[in-house]
Amino acid sequence: MGPTQIADHTFWVGVNDRETDLFESVWPIPRGISYNAYVIADEKVALVDTVKSNSFDTFIEKVRHGIGSRGKVDYLIVNHMEPDHSGVIRRLLDCYPDLKIVGNKKTAALLDAFYGISENVHVVTDGDTLRLGSHTLQFHLTPMVHWPETMMTYDMHTKVLFAGDAFGTFGALDGGVFDDEVDVDYYDDEILRYFSNIVGKYSKMVQKALGKLSGLDIAEIASTHGPVWREHPERIVSIYDKWSAQEPDPGLVIVYGSMYRNTECMMEHVAKGAVEAGLKDVRVHNVPRSHLSYVLRDAWRYQGLVLGTPTYDAGIFPPMDAVVRLLEEKRLAKRTVGLFGTYGWSGGGVKGLRAFVEGADLELVEPVVEACCSATEEQLDSCRELGRCIAQRVM
Ligand code: FEO
Repeated sequence: MGPTQIADHTFWVGVNDRETDLFESVWPIPRGISYNAYVIADEKVALVDTVKSNSFDTFIEKVRHGIGSRGKVDYLIVNHMEPDHSGVIRRLLDCYPDLKIVGNKKTAALLDAFYGISENVHVVTDGDTLRLGSHTLQFHLTPMVHWPETMMTYDMHTKVLFAGDAFGTFGALDGGVFDDEVDVDYYDDEILRYFSNIVGKYSKMVQKALGKLSGLDIAEIASTHGPVWREHPERIVSIYDKWSAQEPDPGLVIVYGSMYRNTECMMEHVAKGAVEAGLKDVRVHNVPRSHLSYVLRDAWRYQGLVLGTPTYDAGIFPPMDAVVRLLEEKRLAKRTVGLFGTYGWSGGGVKGLRAFVEGADLELVEPVVEACCSATEEQLDSCRELGRCIAQRVM
């Protein structure tokens, strides 16, 4: 795709990345990802954000088209310093040595630390403006959405909000740039996976940012990842509002590990009990076969969460321990949780899970079922009861 006009004098000059397997070397992106950047070609030319270092050639070609006969870029607005957006700044400076970089105090510190850039940096504070001609840009500091320096840039002329990572998603742009050109439903799972994996930990800061931006008259939302929201910008705002408020859907995710299928047998009975109670939205993840990224997405999606673990070295089964640590790290809250598991000669697995639940803003549902080696018929009945109980709470 060449540069695409998204508003008056304003062009998308982003790139698709369908080669990287793991975003941040952690999160699978089988459907790729876009790194979005934008040119505003007014009397002065501003570039909003850049792209990851693996895409410089494609990017600079689009920038050159976007700026046309003006032939230079006057300002680079850096809304976010993570290298998927800042990775080509040095090379951009080689092309446009007079370029002035615009960011806040924390941006300036990161520019120096990442790239040794400290000259020609224009530091802005919350609410400052920059006039390009008919376009005036206004800067809104939105720290921790997703890093401390993150900010958003609002074009007061076109009412486009350049939002950084906020309102972004995994998934390349398959031919269309705008929400009205693509099947937005296709992106929903990836919006949630991106949100839970990347931004979810900072949900309170997302809520704060949403409150701060609520007074702006926004015509389009131009994030750094995924479609530009011009037909229904309120759709992506309401999705981010819901997930950052930790308001899950009715439903249940069961996450379990099993070495010799004894814990797995218990899981089957929990799932059966939930379905017997009338719950259809039941998802099961077997760790480590399910990647943490998808486990986290579904834990963020559903009200009910059941964790099942064998005991391993007197503690939680290591792949399940990784799940628990991740949920703790990402500050998952307000969920209804059930627990089950097995042990051989001493407990430890379920005990560890219980400690996690009791240390978080999570509600534990009884019965907690723990079996020695393999569950008895009575214990399997208790697993079904656990499934029924939690289903009734989350429907
Ligand atoms: Fe898309 Fe936090 O970088």
